Amino acid sequence: MTTVDLPLLPLGRGTDPLSERGVECPGDLPAPSDPDLVARAEAAKAALGDKLFVLGHHYQRDEVIRFADVTGDSFKLARDAAARPQAEYIVFCGVHFMAESADILTGPEQQVILPDLAAGCSMADMARLAQVEAAWEALAEAGVQDKVVPVTYMNSSAAIKAFCGRNGGVVCTSSNAEVALEWAFEQKGPDTKVLFLPDQHLGRNTAVLQLGYDLDDCVVWNPHKPAGGLDAQQLGDARMILWKGHCSVHGRFSADVIDELRAKVPGLKVLVHPECQHEVVLKADEVGSTEYIIKTIDAAPAGSSWAIGTELNLVQRLADRHPDKNIMFLDRNVCYCSTMNRIDLPHFVWALENLVEGRVVNRIEVDEQTEAEALVALQRMLDLPGKSHRD
Ligand code: 13P
Ligand code: SF4
Repeated sequence: MTTVDLPLLPLGRGTDPLSERGVECPGDLPAPSDPDLVARAEAAKAALGDKLFVLGHHYQRDEVIRFADVTGDSFKLARDAAARPQAEYIVFCGVHFMAESADILTGPEQQVILPDLAAGCSMADMARLAQVEAAWEALAEAGVQDKVVPVTYMNSSAAIKAFCGRNGGVVCTSSNAEVALEWAFEQKGPDTKVLFLPDQHLGRNTAVLQLGYDLDDCVVWNPHKPAGGLDAQQLGDARMILWKGHCSVHGRFSADVIDELRAKVPGLKVLVHPECQHEVVLKADEVGSTEYIIKTIDAAPAGSSWAIGTELNLVQRLADRHPDKNIMFLDRNVCYCSTMNRIDLPHFVWALENLVEGRVVNRIEVDEQTEAEALVALQRMLDLPGKSHRD
């Protein structure tokens, strides 16, 4: 089996086109202490007018999200990007894989810009194309590949989405994983298996809690072990082959903190993202995408108490927006997504002011073939019947 190590990039220089990583940021950034940053962002946005469309993921900082034309989870942002053909520049305030998806879903004349290329996603980095192709070959050697449908979470590189596109698979997000898996399990008859990339937790939580599979139906493919660390018997018996990837932010939430908080706060409701570990999701009252979390808190009665297991920028914003509700964070420590946080006001202003000057910086451009194949898998997702109730 081929193992591919991530190259170490010197801080502030270079990009690695094979992964989610990239740290280059040419030119001078405005100083974070510049008191005029807000005014500069407003002026640049006004100067660009309808040419510019700013998308903001819910995990973005307040200082950036205030400039977003639309906010959303990764599914909603993918759809919103596709629905604005008149915008010449799409500035994506989110992470690299989201900007790639926006590039794939928008026209060739539209340019997608990620204000800081270091805004990658550690989970997406956990599944690299060479590793996934090696796994696919190993599944053929084990005699099961013809029964396997690859499903990748949106949080993956365009190359992995393209792999799914050319191998009969689909993309899913946290808000439609259930329907995507239902679709996948129908593709190759009653013995269909799914190779779920790269988040083992979303895969396991969806298969077990929403589709009714047993934990024993799931095996974990470790890309750092020969043949994934699994024998032909285990692969033959499995229905869900879960890639050994996870989110370092959502992986922090633990079942014992839920117990502790429930003991302290009467009537507490626990609401978590499906990237959390299975035992955390089992103890929660509600589970859903960032969009679902927002809708649930918006609709909750005044005086209700909620512990939320997702990224801290969003939880803080919800607490600020609902002073009549008792909203707390489901972790003892501060827990931001460090790569989402890379997009700050200086990078945002820098990207916009360059656009005003006619210079496109930090363009995210997926090559033609990858784009065409990834589009197949993304389009299969957008065509799924309805959506799960968890959006
Ligand atoms: P959503 O699909 O809920 O937006 O989540 C994206 C993400 O990166 C969560 O960690
Ligand atoms: Fe990736 Fe986790 Fe950050 Fe989401 S929260 S972008 S999955 S590292």
